[in-house]
Amino acid sequence: STMSDNAGVTKSLLLATSMAVVGSTFQFGYNTGVINAPQKTIEQFFNLTYITRYGYPIATSTLNLLWGFTVAVTAVGGMIGSLCAGFAADRYGLKKPMLYNNFTAILAALLMGFSKLAGSFEMLIIGRFIIGINSGINMGIAPMYLTEIAPVKYRGVFGTLGQLGVVTSMLLSQVLGLRWLLGTSTLWPLLLALTGVFAVYQLAVIPFCPESPRFLLVKMNKEDEAREALQWLRGSHYNSKEEMNQMSSEHEAGKDEQKTTIKELFTVSHLRQPLIIAIVMQLSQQLSGINAVFYYSTQLFLAAGIPQEYTGLTTVGVGIVNVIMTIVSLSLIEHAGRRILHLIGLGGMCVCSILLVVNIEIFKFLLTTDMKVVISWLTLVPILLFVAFFQTGPGSIPWFITAELFNQSARPAAVSIAGLVNWLGNFTIGLAYPSINAEIGGYTFIIFAVLLAIFWIFTYFRVPETKGKNINEITALFQPDRGGYLGGK
Ligand code: GLC
Repeated sequence: STMSDNAGVTKSLLLATSMAVVGSTFQFGYNTGVINAPQKTIEQFFNLTYITRYGYPIATSTLNLLWGFTVAVTAVGGMIGSLCAGFAADRYGLKKPMLYNNFTAILAALLMGFSKLAGSFEMLIIGRFIIGINSGINMGIAPMYLTEIAPVKYRGVFGTLGQLGVVTSMLLSQVLGLRWLLGTSTLWPLLLALTGVFAVYQLAVIPFCPESPRFLLVKMNKEDEAREALQWLRGSHYNSKEEMNQMSSEHEAGKDEQKTTIKELFTVSHLRQPLIIAIVMQLSQQLSGINAVFYYSTQLFLAAGIPQEYTGLTTVGVGIVNVIMTIVSLSLIEHAGRRILHLIGLGGMCVCSILLVVNIEIFKFLLTTDMKVVISWLTLVPILLFVAFFQTGPGSIPWFITAELFNQSARPAAVSIAGLVNWLGNFTIGLAYPSINAEIGGYTFIIFAVLLAIFWIFTYFRVPETKGKNINEITALFQPDRGGYLGGK
């Protein structure tokens, strides 16, 4: 397709992009990463609160449960948020939900920031829950907004920018959470409350940014406003005719399905096929075991024999690899395409999982300390490569490919379902990994290796390439007159 090939990247487009990336995807990444480093200090606060209230310290088992809950409750909020995202986007578009969602972030920041002062860990937990709702909404809306404002040929780049926001803010939270910065017993409330800053940024910038032109035209039938929005994004010298026509034809094609219900997504064949793809893509991201690394990296490094005092730095190291590899993925996504990057990512992760298990096994059976030291540091290699392969494709693509696979009428509902599946997977791994790990240790990664192999096969046979195609061309792949969609290339 040569559609909108002359559409360039303008300052306005970059402003709108930064609004969605910093204002929305940062919330998710920051709050995913922030809880890892200060775990011990916050647990101390839980304990002190307990002593003040009841006169005796908290039982270790209660503390573990309470901590697990504090971490996992965000994903529960995320599930609720992703459901809200679809309904809100369908009714109000993308801009308004993004705008109002900032108030949930500010509320959460206040609850978390004042929990210590108020002597209430309940406030912290409620804050984590609310920031989960906020993230669920954000991770539904922002990737949609980014892919909808992007010129066709850069859609993958803009989709990947969402994940770049996630990993950048994650790194930020990991660095700020170090013991000699904000990861202290007095400053951790500030560390958690800083998430409100991203909301303030978005509130300041969003009034200048337009609603998604696609939403205005295809959903609201507001042609003039849509053209105006597009013109603002692309620059005044840009001839928007072709791109407007292309959106209009999407409008025509989807006229008889103005409102696609969630039920239709599951029952109508040309909707069910892409829905299954979107769901399995999300599962391949979460059940790859990636968050076992992000949530429990400290534990993992200790099990591999890396000394305690280095685990903070190795966690930051993982964060740096994250950012670098997401940038690599960003620069490849429109050349190599989604399929190949996802396949390389899943395949590489599969091999690394096996290597990791081998490494941990060798460590166990080594006798001399010298060799143990070498092998324990060697464990970093499969772990860092595991993360690197993840960011090659599986980290970013599932978040935006759903928006590519559906037209305007079905997109919000599909994004909601895909998001729900993502958070469910996230929740499951976060909760189940510690117990499975307690039972079978490093062998947990064998389970991930098997799952990764299954997802690789699915991707190979079922996931179409969406690079460079407009939405009509993509949805046409699933139409019955094409005889159904039969895989690859
Ligand atoms: C993706 C995943 C998220 C993970 C992150 C790590 O955004 O959705 O669960 O923590 O990548 O980079």
